[in-house]
Amino acid sequence: MISEGLKADSGQNAPIGVFDSGIGGLSVLRAIRALLPGERILYLADQGHVPYGPRPMAEIQQFSEEITRFLLARGAKLVVVACNTASAAALHHLRASFPGIPFVGMEPAVKPAAEHTKSGVVGVLATPATFQGALYASVVERFAQGVTVLQDTCPGLVQQIEAGDLNGAGTRQILENALHPMLAKGVDTVVMGCTHYPFVIPLIEEICGGKVRVIDPAPAVARQAQRLLDARGAKAREEAKAPIVAFTTGALNPFQMILPELLGETAEMWAASWLGSVLSA
Ligand code: DGL
Repeated sequence: MISEGLKADSGQNAPIGVFDSGIGGLSVLRAIRALLPGERILYLADQGHVPYGPRPMAEIQQFSEEITRFLLARGAKLVVVACNTASAAALHHLRASFPGIPFVGMEPAVKPAAEHTKSGVVGVLATPATFQGALYASVVERFAQGVTVLQDTCPGLVQQIEAGDLNGAGTRQILENALHPMLAKGVDTVVMGCTHYPFVIPLIEEICGGKVRVIDPAPAVARQAQRLLDARGAKAREEAKAPIVAFTTGALNPFQMILPELLGETAEMWAASWLGSVLSA
């Protein structure tokens, strides 16, 4: 069993582990900080491998498993897979491989979108791997009966956001290419099916001219983390803001610049590196 020898400290002071292919998971971390400020956080941005979206599922699964091991080795009491793509590729596998560990994963918020739409047309923006996964097929099947679901992979958008370009011409073009055809078909609700995309919600709203509701699942993910901690009596007792320690497998300097900007607070930041299939810091 993978978790053997990596016993996580499940105590109240143990950190919550959060990971993403890059800085996208910071949109989820923002919501976790708003709801659970007293929780210590370990964040891992796998910027050495970003984007995950076009990669084979098996490879994303392997990265996710090793990142989970990295977080557990540093005491994580719960792991938030703050990445729709990694959730699609690996969540099932992670739960089976680390049976004692609570995981919070992400799936495109098709259910609230289908409940909210008045036009009966919803749009989902997510990566190719997320759309290919069984998780996505299952939410559409279960929750979108009688609703038209339009999809777009927004090619290049993750890289634009990673580069800190939240409203330049290239970013706008990618979003216009995705949203104009959806608007022409009457979309009134758009789901952020990738954790990078909430950082461009102002631009999405501008392009849609206030005609759509944008759904960011981050607050619901934070509430689920809270529920799991409560159920295990593992919630931190502190109310004051606890520290965040963040690692990137990419270049440290740009990470140090962009994290405080996107998160609205700073963190202790370190480089981590892949040596073959092993992650270390
Ligand atoms: N932030 C990710 C997601 O939620 C992955 C983006 C990528 O690396 O392609 O899907």
